[in-house]
Amino acid sequence: AERTLILVKPDGVARGLSGTILARVEAKGYKLVDMKYVHATREILKAHYAEHVGKPFYEPLVEFMLSGPVVAAVFEGERVIEGFRSLAGTTEPTTAAPGTIRGDYGRDWGLKVQQNLVHGSDSVESAEKEISIWFG
Ligand code: GTP
Ligand code: MG
Repeated sequence: AERTLILVKPDGVARGLSGTILARVEAKGYKLVDMKYVHATREILKAHYAEHVGKPFYEPLVEFMLSGPVVAAVFEGERVIEGFRSLAGTTEPTTAAPGTIRGDYGRDWGLKVQQNLVHGSDSVESAEKEISIWFG
């Protein structure tokens, strides 16, 4: 079955939303197949965000992702990649649709990075790559 890598980012963990977020993914019907609580490293983030290296938001993004622990999880199910991204909502939390995770719990906090609570893989290829980065 299709799998995706989901992260509850440091803002989500710090705000005590990890359980709520994971519960919403489970409630949509996807199966939790692996999970851990972990501090990211620069090495992990360089691999995870390789496509964004050199962009203006890259350094603030890395600093944000190093600012506290994350919850990394693997979920499984038919079309889970697009299903989770739909549930997460658009990248910018201020305008993400109500009813989505970012739309319901996120907003702009005035920093140089979008603190948008969650990450979800965007393709089958990136999901397999990201699962091996975070879970080996
Ligand atoms: P992820 O699921 O986290 O990958 O989100 P995404 O696919 O919606 O966004 P993308 O992969 O394009 O960017 C990765 C992360 O970088 C985002 O989740 C944001 O935290 C941050 N980011 C992306 N684009 C911008 C931007 O234009 N400005 C700022 N400040 N941050 C951004
Ligand atoms: Mg992305």
